[in-house]
Amino acid sequence: MDLIANQPPPRFDAARRSAQSEILDRPVHTGELAKILRDLARFNGAMMGHRPLIRWLNRATTNVPIDRALTFLDVGCGYGDLLRAVRRWAREKGRPMRLIGVDLSPQVIEVARRATDAADDIEYEVADVLAFKPVFPIDFVATSLVTHHLSDEMIVQFLRWMESAARRGWVIYDLQRSFVPFYFIALAGLFMRLHPVVVYDGRVSVARSLTRTEWEAAIARAGIPRDAVQIRWFMFRFAIGRLR
Ligand SMILES: C[S@@+](CC[C@H](N)C(=O)[O-])C[C@H]1O[C@@H](n2cnc3c(N)ncnc32)[C@H](O)[C@@H]1O
Repeated sequence: MDLIANQPPPRFDAARRSAQSEILDRPVHTGELAKILRDLARFNGAMMGHRPLIRWLNRATTNVPIDRALTFLDVGCGYGDLLRAVRRWAREKGRPMRLIGVDLSPQVIEVARRATDAADDIEYEVADVLAFKPVFPIDFVATSLVTHHLSDEMIVQFLRWMESAARRGWVIYDLQRSFVPFYFIALAGLFMRLHPVVVYDGRVSVARSLTRTEWEAAIARAGIPRDAVQIRWFMFRFAIGRLR
């Protein structure tokens, strides 16, 4: 099945966010989806994608007693690889943690469940985050490579949602709109033999992503004090975090 056929080539404009859609924004056969999500996780791993989030979690938990049970929610959890990395981190630290992944797509959640060992004890739920009302308190909310899927208006709503949902802090991890990753992903796709959808969607994702200035404007529109939020840059990605 050629999912790329008849797709317009990804286009990049430094001045504005692209409105092109990604292939994974549409239904994809579950077997193919599993291959795509596995390759996306492989690419994230090569880009040391979890490192800034684990570092953030280290900072976020510095003053939390080691035996205090914490809840961590991953929004748009995809393959579940971030949650499994957090489980490994929690085990190493000896921290009790309840881990929950939510994703808009039932197929994605099915693939994440299959890729997760029962011993990792991760809960998965299908939900649109903007309509998700957790019935239990959440300490930390994280999200990786999701916000570029949202419109400017939805990003502001999402920032407000995280402000109200996360007791101890939240972190957004996403791409920077820059021509460097836009071209680099195509090159990495060749060397790493990535699934063509990972390359296509990766390039569209970069073009849909925000610049630092746009993030600062979104934070202001959400009514969050600018000095309460840290924006860190790592390998053409931003980690935008707030700790309480
Ligand atoms: C590019 S994937 C990223 C997956 C994973 N977080 C990662 O870092 O590889 C984006 C995911 O966000 C999910 N998503 C998009 N909009 C969402 C929403 N409004 N609520 C929950 N999940 C959403 C999609 O279904 C998709 O699985």
